[in-house]
Amino acid sequence: MDALELIKGRRSIRKYKSKPIEEEKILKCLEAARWAPSASNKQPWEFIIVKDEKTRHKLAEIHPYAKFVAESPVVFVPLTNPNIHPKYHMSDTGLTIQNFMLQAHALGLGTCWAGVIASSIEPPIKELLNVPDHLNIMALVALGYPDQERESSRKSLEEIIHWEKYSE
Ligand SMILES: Cc1cc2nc3c(=O)[nH]c(=O)nc-3n(C[C@H](O)[C@H](O)[C@H](O)COP(=O)(O)O)c2cc1C
Repeated sequence: MDALELIKGRRSIRKYKSKPIEEEKILKCLEAARWAPSASNKQPWEFIIVKDEKTRHKLAEIHPYAKFVAESPVVFVPLTNPNIHPKYHMSDTGLTIQNFMLQAHALGLGTCWAGVIASSIEPPIKELLNVPDHLNIMALVALGYPDQERESSRKSLEEIIHWEKYSE
């Protein structure tokens, strides 16, 4: 599939089938995440994969906008380490999420990024997942076979593009 077609075809999926995900597909998504670019190639990330149903339900209870992680058979939890790169750790780890989501889409799987870092729900999620103090949780990313079709839109290029210099 053409890269642009893949990028434009990915949607945030908030309803999932209970069908389990093949291990090799999860590993392929993690491999894509691992190959994200990072400032000075410092790779300031670690990942948790949650499959346990009880844990997923607890995550859904804590996160007000990620109730769907109770349904998705897998939750990808990217951790970011500010000590490794104080300035760029968040953008670097964000790129792992985009890689993960695009690889998932290429495999026919759906994802949805639910933000966590710097919010009041981060400490209870850290406690639940036993995440050490020096790491932050970027997000909960649901992963599963989609049980819905969704549409989205973007600002037009005309609205956001400036050629050569900023123009009003
Ligand atoms: C940093 C970030 C945080 C997000 N947090 C949530 C969230 O808490 N809950 C949710 O349902 N979607 C969340 N989303 C998904 C966005 O709502 C979604 O990407 C956007 O509406 C565009 O839709 P699309 O992904 O289908 O193109 C988040 C996305 C990003 C990048």
